[in-house]
Amino acid sequence: MRVLVTGGTGFIGSHTVVSLIEGGHEPVIVDNLANSQPSVLDRVASITGVAPEMHRADIRDLEAMTAIASRGFDACIHFAALKAVGESVEEPLLYYDNNVAGTVTLLMALEAAGVESIVFSSSATVYGDPDSLPMTEEMPLGSATNPYGWTKITMERVLADLQAARSGWSVSLLRYFNPVGAHPSGQLGEDPSGVPNNLMPYVARVAAGRLPKVEVFGGDYPTPDGTGVRDYVHVVDLAEGHIAALDRHHGDPGVHVYNLGTGRGHSVLEVIKAYEEESGRPIPYEIVDRRPGDVAASWAAVNKAERELSWKARRDLHEMCADSWRWEQARR
Ligand code: NAD
Ligand code: UFG
Repeated sequence: MRVLVTGGTGFIGSHTVVSLIEGGHEPVIVDNLANSQPSVLDRVASITGVAPEMHRADIRDLEAMTAIASRGFDACIHFAALKAVGESVEEPLLYYDNNVAGTVTLLMALEAAGVESIVFSSSATVYGDPDSLPMTEEMPLGSATNPYGWTKITMERVLADLQAARSGWSVSLLRYFNPVGAHPSGQLGEDPSGVPNNLMPYVARVAAGRLPKVEVFGGDYPTPDGTGVRDYVHVVDLAEGHIAALDRHHGDPGVHVYNLGTGRGHSVLEVIKAYEEESGRPIPYEIVDRRPGDVAASWAAVNKAERELSWKARRDLHEMCADSWRWEQARR
């Protein structure tokens, strides 16, 4: 399939572009490089032997997106979004404009071009703070604790409403749990600018001696060791989940919702310990106050993706830490 990949030079997008090429598909990237580098294209080429086509454009630009979308696509995988939770609280209009208005514009361009198949990057954040675990796809959507989360809930709504009105559309909503790790080649990964917001990139910098210690947000959660529990999923497994959804649901009208996670949770202290083991570096930490808006624990029910997509995350926490560490070191 020829697949338009918005946000394809970003963290998850770049890994998915590699998986698309490896799966025999032809990805074409659209990215405005707001949070990525064009050098990613050379790295993808060095891994796969194929240099993907890329258009530098903003998904909010209807004229540009209409021109690009008309170049003969079978499907779109839509990653492009801003994702910093704290920034979304400071700049809500930027987030609604980029994520929600951007998605609406993209969909207009796809509709005009007759592209009716989309795989969308959603998030476990849409479940809010549910009463029970694991989180299943049937659970009602929760209440987000920040504008970023509301943009994901709103974009899911936009896509479901579109599918209800245009019954030929195939919409796959993939709800990621906590994507971490990097490509095993050490050539692709996540490189947040400034101080990382997320746990694993932060831990990586402490292991590398670039930050002094990890602040563990809360030691009094109702979890086995008191620290927050998340379902960390290797970015290469996640990338493969997109190919599975595309292959399964292309030409299959409807709204198809899947959790992408491993189905098991790890605490913050478990992540620090696994990273120490894989890096061989000491990782000092201090337990501080809870971070507002965090839930105690989150992990996915994964049987639906296993059953319907024949997809299952295969890489464990140690592999996630080892690949993250290889990427961290490759850049120094
Ligand atoms: P990322 O920032 O690395 O990638 C997003 C890409 O989109 C970047 O390359 C950025 O330049 C591009 N982009 C942003 N706004 C754009 C616009 N208006 N026009 C064109 N390009 C634009 O982030 P990521 O971690 O790869 O996330 C990809 C998707 O997955 C996002 O939709 C994100 O919300 C979602 N998601 C991520 C996580 C996570 O923890 N990483 C969790 C759940 C969901
Ligand atoms: N944590 C720390 N110290 C840090 C960073 C994080 O203790 O410096 C803890 C958090 O409190 C949480 C865990 O590590 O218990 C994971 O935190 P992350 O920030 O890595 O991930 P979140 O689960 O908070 O957020 C992620 C994505 C969001 C998405 C959300 C959905 O980053 O985009 O999952 O649940 F919305």
